[in-house]
Amino acid sequence: MFISKCSAETISSAAKALKDGGLVAFPTETVYGLGADAQSAEAVKRIYEVKGRPHDHPLIVHISEIQDLEVWAKEIPDYAIKLARDFWPGPMTLILMRREVAKDFITGNQETVGLRIPAQPIALSLINEFKKLGGKGIAAPSANMFGKVSPTTAEAVAEEVLQYMNHFLDRILDGGPSHIGIESTIINCTTKAPEILRLGFITKEMIEESIGMKVVATELNIRVSGSLESHYAPNAKVLINQIPKSGYGFIALSSIPTPDGCIRLISPNTIEEYARNLYPALRLADLKEISVLVAIAPEGHGLALAITDRLSRAAKL
Ligand code: TXA
Ligand code: MG
Repeated sequence: MFISKCSAETISSAAKALKDGGLVAFPTETVYGLGADAQSAEAVKRIYEVKGRPHDHPLIVHISEIQDLEVWAKEIPDYAIKLARDFWPGPMTLILMRREVAKDFITGNQETVGLRIPAQPIALSLINEFKKLGGKGIAAPSANMFGKVSPTTAEAVAEEVLQYMNHFLDRILDGGPSHIGIESTIINCTTKAPEILRLGFITKEMIEESIGMKVVATELNIRVSGSLESHYAPNAKVLINQIPKSGYGFIALSSIPTPDGCIRLISPNTIEEYARNLYPALRLADLKEISVLVAIAPEGHGLALAITDRLSRAAKL
């Protein structure tokens, strides 16, 4: 088990490890994923063991080209192709009707499969190398313990799951901090009009502009596909938009001054920076053994809503 900086050799060796049944944690532009061969029941079972995740929870299959959609999915609507062309590689997962190759252990016994092409060069070359070895896709949930905060660095992956990655093939690829910092937008494409199941960097407005259709977005705080109450939660108690007391952690845009006696965790200048630094801030709170933190949610639509969604999950609202 080791953590490695990425050269062409370490990537092809990691692809081989995946093909042989190992687990490879790898960087994506959203968060780090804990990858396994999406066709191997044994390897996928180990993902669940390492994460301590319930077994009926579906996994996203990571692919590297739009043509791979046909391998895993059928009855693909035109709007899904348009979304794939406009936003892949990128922080978007499409839920489509599955083909045979997407077994129950990937889909959580559902007739649908989640697919994504990540926009991260290491992730893309890992998938491509894996395909050269005969693989069809890499199943990868976020590389955190079930219910905890998603990791956005290799060090955070190590903190979360390294101790459980105990097969000699297992490894972590280090690609530096994830550029976006929150998980992909999930879009259900099995209905006449698409439906957003998880908010993310690809916003409702962007999707509607791409396909010229109205999109249904699940209301904030309404539980979506498999999400449970304890998701994205640090040890600290998270309060949103409340007045903090002295000694509390504090997360807000840089335009908002730190209240007296509070421990400032991040001061992002933009919404994008807020998204990128949110999970590291939640980890920092735990590292500093802060017991309560106040987050001031960013105002506005799009990515601001996705951040507010993650904050409210961390607050277990
Ligand atoms: O950005 C991301 O999406 C990251 C990176 C690693 O790609 N992955 C990620 O995976 O966030 P995970 O497993 O932590 O979250 C995936 C979500 C889960 O809530 C799961 O229930 C949902 O996607 N999902 C996967 N397949 C699905 C399906 N067939 N139908 C409905 N929801 C699905
Ligand atoms: Mg996750």
